[in-house]
Amino acid sequence: MSKRIGIINGGGDCPGLNTVIDAIVRVLYPDYEILGFYRGFEGLLYQKYKILTPDYTGPYKFEGGTFLKTVNKGNFSAKVGTGNEKKIDGNILTDTMKSYHELQLDGIISLGGDGSMSAAHQLIQHGANIVGVPKSIDNDLSGTDFTFGFQTAVEIGTEALDRLQTTAMSHDRVMILEVMGRNAGWIGLYAGIAGGANVILIPEIPFEMDVVRHHIKERAARGYKHALIVVSEGAKPKHGQIATKASGRASEVLLGGMSHKIEAYLNEDPDIESRATILGHIQRGGSPCGFDRLLSRSLGSHAAHLFMEKNFGMMVTYKSGHVGQCKIEDAIAHIKRIRKDNSLIKMAKSMGISFGDEPVKLFDVFDD
Ligand code: F6P
Repeated sequence: MSKRIGIINGGGDCPGLNTVIDAIVRVLYPDYEILGFYRGFEGLLYQKYKILTPDYTGPYKFEGGTFLKTVNKGNFSAKVGTGNEKKIDGNILTDTMKSYHELQLDGIISLGGDGSMSAAHQLIQHGANIVGVPKSIDNDLSGTDFTFGFQTAVEIGTEALDRLQTTAMSHDRVMILEVMGRNAGWIGLYAGIAGGANVILIPEIPFEMDVVRHHIKERAARGYKHALIVVSEGAKPKHGQIATKASGRASEVLLGGMSHKIEAYLNEDPDIESRATILGHIQRGGSPCGFDRLLSRSLGSHAAHLFMEKNFGMMVTYKSGHVGQCKIEDAIAHIKRIRKDNSLIKMAKSMGISFGDEPVKLFDVFDD
């Protein structure tokens, strides 16, 4: 009897999903019959799938999105807030395992972020053989330095800052760019440094509006009349709340709007003119950048090899330049946030980039 494997992608999409799927198919075909399930674990539950071959997946390999479609709500949403596991309904898990056995699967490779990995973990406890591949623009999964999709989001954020910089200079304005990332500031930190932001506000470092305004005004006093601020959607003022918006039928509270609050605050000052831009889902759309293509192909092929070796319950990882693996349960034990002693924060502060928590050094413009 031929060997059968399922591929599942769950949660929000990101660039690189099709790349990973194609890499897995290239390694496992023709030794395995490969079932690509539609819309995450829902596809396994309802037995909605497509048989995958390299000639089918090949043309999609650098396309954005996922040809398998995906959902970040429904029966399998397994994470809420900042990383607490939500138990999936026991009947759903039982019915899903029934499908798994009816389809005679040897196991599953599951591409997902913390929520999908938590769902995978609960299915493992019900007897499923699963290998995980870490996906997310947020880069907040533990056990790996990078998730695929993250670097592409950083590239998009960097390009947005480059574009905001020219209009900021023309008008002597303060331009605020809001980026995604949920409760982790990775996109904000990386894009902020790469795009030359003067202020970077991330969830891990509560900020003070006053400190931000002071930095902007002190820069202006020294001749720099424009400024760029990057704010992560989950950034929190020291004496205020995270900005949230209506859930839009998502299973988790949606974050967003802090850039508008900062814009309004700064515009109260007669000497400042500020405008906010929310980058939103542009960060999740389109093709993966070069690094993410390399990462996705490496992680996908390594996941396929782990699967063939029956190394189940593991998630593939990328650490210090090497592809490896860790236990799925360790990857979901807590979300990976930026530590206060992260060397990038120290480096950025020493170059005069403010994180809104304390004054940093300022430079003068000298006319010649
Ligand atoms: O987890 C990825 C992510 O893009 C977050 O950065 C963002 O907060 C959330 O998903 C948005 O979710 P939705 O696609 O449901 O609007």
